[in-house]
Parts: sequence; structure tokens; C-alpha cells
Amino acid sequence: MKVTLITGASGGIGEAIVNRLAERKQNLLLIARNAEKLEKQGRELAEKFGIQVQFIAADLADPETAERIFKETQNRGLEIDMLINNAGIGSGGEFSSLSLKSELSLLQLNVSSLVALTHLFLPQMQNRKSGTIINIASMASFIPIPYMATYAASKMFVRSFTQAVTQECKPYNVHMLLFCPGLTKTNFNSAAGIDNEKGGGLSSDYSNSPTQTPEEVADELLQALDKKRSFAVSGRMNRFGSRLLALIPNSFITRNFAKLYRKRLKM
Ligand SMILES: NC(=O)c1ccc[n+]([C@@H]2O[C@H](COP(=O)([O-])OP(=O)(O)OC[C@H]3O[C@@H](n4cnc5c(N)ncnc54)[C@H](OP(=O)(O)O)[C@@H]3O)[C@@H](O)[C@H]2O)c1
Repeated sequence: MKVTLITGASGGIGEAIVNRLAERKQNLLLIARNAEKLEKQGRELAEKFGIQVQFIAADLADPETAERIFKETQNRGLEIDMLINNAGIGSGGEFSSLSLKSELSLLQLNVSSLVALTHLFLPQMQNRKSGTIINIASMASFIPIPYMATYAASKMFVRSFTQAVTQECKPYNVHMLLFCPGLTKTNFNSAAGIDNEKGGGLSSDYSNSPTQTPEEVADELLQALDKKRSFAVSGRMNRFGSRLLALIPNSFITRNFAKLYRKRLKM
């Protein structure tokens, strides 16, 4: 059975993508940690849209999870014809004061698991000469960001890695899409632990910034997918911002981000 595998399917941008794909009658394999949520979500989508929805509750911050998911898809006889690496987490604060364990866990989730899942599912797509891999980066992938150093670097990795492998995929007719959302109203700030006093000032102010809903982001992702784009930034203001950022020296941007965040963090 042909299936779309999506990580981080249970909330935010991932859940919005899942809903849009279900409307298109695509069979789904949902991945996130919360089994109860996935079970309910899958059951409701299957009933509403008459599609097959399976789930695997798994922690992608565990280095062994990607391999376990791959084996499970083999055991279930699933043909993954689209892989969406969406799960990700942020972190914020002065790098030296952050927990090393959390920072390494962020890298495992945002970077290593994305690389592992791509490496595990790509050969089958290459053999079939069809398939799609979508990697979710961020506006943060365009610049180093002081006080969000590890998160921004993880997304810069996703951008560089995806753009390189996209070219390697061309002879095999495998489509890769690097998709960069900007500020989106989700659980992201709270999951990153920057919606509290400790992270105050790093947390995004949704009321004063150009923000998208997860549904708007999902719609833009599907448009990019339908147009077979290999790179897309979500949101008109973000597209303009990404072009502008490319023109400004990183040293200028990082210096000013650092000043701004030091002020907000009262350092
Ligand atoms: N929101 C933004 O402003 C924004 C901007 C640019 C880019 N992005 C990127 O968009 C992607 C989705 O973010 P979001 O804003 O939708 O975040 P979110 O609302 O926090 O949702 C994250 C999803 O990932 C799952 N997840 C988190 N940790 C996981 C783990 N260790 N293993 C497996 N699944 C895990 C969560 O479910 P469980 O908790 O049940 O595991 C949830 O389904 C991320 O890659 C993020 O970096 C977000």
C-alpha cells in the first residue's frame, strides 16, 4: 500500500499538512510521541475521508527510532512514496547556559533523524524511480541566530543537506522539496521552553510580527508540491525577507540580533 509518512504529525504544521493530505485521500503513516493523540487523530481521519491511517508512536530524539520506523514499515508492507520530515524543536537562551543534553537531543531530532529517515527511504524511491521527500527547514535556516544558535544551525544544516541531495535525486526522478516556514502560530515556543520567564524576549510575539496559521503554511506547502518546486518559503513577507537576508552580511545580522536579544533578555 502506498503511504505518506509524516513526522511531527500530531500538532502544529504537521497536523495541518496531515489534514490537507487526508482531504486528498492519501493514505497516511503518522509519527509523533503521543500515542493517544495519534490513535484518535488517525481514527477520525480514516472515518471522515475513507483512507487508511496508521501510526507509530516514537521519539525521534532517540538515535534508534528511525531504523525502528523503517523496519516497522517493512513489516507492515507499506510503500512510502512520500516522506515528510517535519518534526522539530527549538531552543533559546545563552548557549553556554543551556542544557547540553537538550541541545544534543535537538540535533538528534532536527538533524540526525531527518538524515537517517532520508537515508533509509531514499534507496527504495530511487529503485522505483518515483517518490517525494519534503524537509521542513525554517526562515532560521538563512542566518546564524545568537541565543538560538543550535536551532538556527540545525535548520541551516537541513537547508544545505536538502539542496545537495535534491540534485543527487534528479537522475532517479525522486522529487525533493526544501520548505521554509516563517513564524507560525503553533506549540513551537512552548515546546522550546521559550514562552516563559526564562526565555522571555526570545519567544515570538505573534501579535506584532507577520505570522501564518499552520493551515496557511500547509496550503503553501501543497502548492509548492503540486508545482514540483524544489525550494519554497512560506508567506509573501518571508519570501521578501529571505531575499533581503541573502544581501546583508551575516556579521551585521548576527551583531544586531545579539544586541536585540541581550536587551530583551535583560543581560
Ligand atoms: N512554528 C514556527 O514558527 C516554525 C517556524 C519555522 C519552522 N518551523 C518548523 O516546523 C516544524 C513543525 O513545527 P511546529 O511549529 O508545528 O511545532 P509543534 O507545534 O511543537 O509540533 C511539533 C510536532 O512534532 C512532534 N514531536 C516533537 N518532538 C518529537 C520527538 N522527539 N519525536 C517525535 N515527534 C516529535 C510533536 O508531537 P509529540 O509532542 O506528540 O511528539 C508535534 O506533532 C519544525 O521542524 C519547526 O522547526 C516552525
